[in-house]
Amino acid sequence: MSIHEPPISRRDALRGIGALAMGTVVAPAMVSDEAISAAAAQQATRPFTNKPVTCIILGAGSSGNTYAAWSKEFPEQMRVVGVAEPIPSRQERFAGMYDIPAAHRFPSWDDALAVPKFADAILITTPDQLHHGPAMRGLELGYDILLEKPIATTWQHCSEILAQHARYPRIVAVCHVLRYTAYFRKLHEVVASGVLGEVVSIEHLEPVGYWHQGHSFVRGNWRNVATSCPMILAKSCHDLDIIRWLMDEPCLSVASYGSLKHFRKENAPPGSTPRCTDGCAIEKDCPYSALKLYMDMKNTGWPVSVITEDVSEAGRLKALREGPYGRCVYHCDNDVVDHQVLAMEFGKERTASFTMAAFTTGSRRTRVMGTMGEVMGDTRYITVENFRNRKKETIDTKLAETGISSGHGGGDYGLMQAFIKAIQHQDASLIASSLEVSMESHKIGFEAERSRLERRIVTL
Ligand SMILES: NC(=O)c1ccc[n+]([C@@H]2O[C@H](COP(=O)([O-])OP(=O)(O)OC[C@H]3O[C@@H](n4cnc5c(N)ncnc54)[C@H](O)[C@@H]3O)[C@@H](O)[C@H]2O)c1
Repeated sequence: MSIHEPPISRRDALRGIGALAMGTVVAPAMVSDEAISAAAAQQATRPFTNKPVTCIILGAGSSGNTYAAWSKEFPEQMRVVGVAEPIPSRQERFAGMYDIPAAHRFPSWDDALAVPKFADAILITTPDQLHHGPAMRGLELGYDILLEKPIATTWQHCSEILAQHARYPRIVAVCHVLRYTAYFRKLHEVVASGVLGEVVSIEHLEPVGYWHQGHSFVRGNWRNVATSCPMILAKSCHDLDIIRWLMDEPCLSVASYGSLKHFRKENAPPGSTPRCTDGCAIEKDCPYSALKLYMDMKNTGWPVSVITEDVSEAGRLKALREGPYGRCVYHCDNDVVDHQVLAMEFGKERTASFTMAAFTTGSRRTRVMGTMGEVMGDTRYITVENFRNRKKETIDTKLAETGISSGHGGGDYGLMQAFIKAIQHQDASLIASSLEVSMESHKIGFEAERSRLERRIVTL
C-alpha cells in the first residue's frame, strides 16, 4: 500500500490538480474537455483562501499522520491544533510534531469532543468501529468532517450518520481517495465522454496481494469481522464506489460468493509453528513468512511501521515474538474472506462484476465495455478502443506527468486539497466523495455480504 510514500512538494501538488482540471494529461483527441469531472474542474477554479483551516486529528495512526502531514506542505491552508490518541508514545510524538498544547491532547475521541468546539474540522482516522461515535458527536458540535472509510461498520450506523448530517449539514468528505487520483479521474472522464457509446458492462479486479492479505486481513487490524467489518467494505468500498461512479446508474441487485479458503488452521503445513520466530520448519519456503515481510532492514516504512515504533532489528524481532504480526498465517484469529466475487445489476440493463482476491500481485484492473468502444486500465495506462473507427489509443496517466505522487496514486493529497478548499469556501460541491454519494457504494457492500452469507440474490 502506498500511504507512506514520500509527500509531494507544494508546487508539484498544485501543478498536478491544475493539469488534471485543464485536461493536460496525455489525452486522446476523442475525449472532450467538457467531460472532465465537475468536482475536479471546480476545485481548480477555486483558489485557496490562505486562511488556515484548524483541524483536530482523532486517531494518530497511519491515516491520521498521512492527512496531518498535508499541513506541513500547506501551512497557510491547514493547521493541526488538537489530537486524540490513546497510545501515549504516539500521542506525544504527534503532539510534538504539530506543537499541540497540553490542553488540546486527549486520550480518546470522546474526550476531545466533550469540550467546547475549538477548531474548524475533525479528521476521523480512528479504527473502523470508532467512526460512528465521533461522526455523530462531531456533527452535533458543528465540526466539518473528514471521515475515513468505511463510513461505519453497519448499515444502521451509516444511516444514522446520514440522518445526523441532514440535521447538522456540515461539510463531510469520505476518504474515497481513488476518486482524486489522476488515473481514476481520467478513466471516468473517458467513460463520461461518450466515446464508448452506451456503457453496458464493467469488469473490475482488486488484486489485494498475497502478502498484503497476510499483513492486514489475516494478522492485522482488519482480520476479524467482529472487531472491524466485512472485508468487502474494509478493502473494497473504494472499488464499489468507482464501479458506481463509472456506471452512473444505481445498483439494483447483487449476488456474491466467496470464503476464507486458505488461511485456516487445517491448512497449516506440517512443521509450521504458531509463530514464524518459533523455528518453523517451512519458514524459508513460506510466501507469508513474517520474517520475510518485516525483517528487510531496508524498509523502515509501511508495513514495518505498523508492527512497531522501534524499527531496529531488535525492535522488529520483539514485535514478531510478542505481537500479532509474528503469528503464522494459519494460526490467527482471522475470519474475513480471502476471495470474493460480486455480480451486480445496474439500472438501464447494465451489469458489472467485481473480484477481490488475496492470491495476487499487481494493481487494480478495470475494463469498461460500451456499445461503441471498450476501455481497459491498469492504474497507469488506459487503453481506449473505438469500434467506430477501429482506432486504439493509450493514455499514460503516470504520476510524474501530473505532478502528484502522494499515497493512493496522489489521492490522499487530492482529497485533502478538496476538503480544505470546501471548508474555506463552505462549498460541499468541491468534494467528489460526499457522504450521500458514498452511502450508495456502502449499501452495495453490505448487501453483497448479506448475499454471500445467505446465498441469495439481494435486491437493493
Ligand atoms: N482510505 C484508505 O484507503 C484507508 C487506508 C488505510 C486505513 N483506512 C481507514 O482509516 C482508519 C484508520 O486506519 P489506520 O490504518 O490509520 O489505523 P491505525 O491503527 O494506524 O490508526 C488508528 C489510530 O486510532 C487510535 N485510536 C484507537 N482508539 C481510539 C480512540 N478511542 N480515540 C482516538 N484514537 C483512537 C489508535 O491507537 C491508532 O493510533 C480505519 O478506519 C481504516 O479502515 C483507510
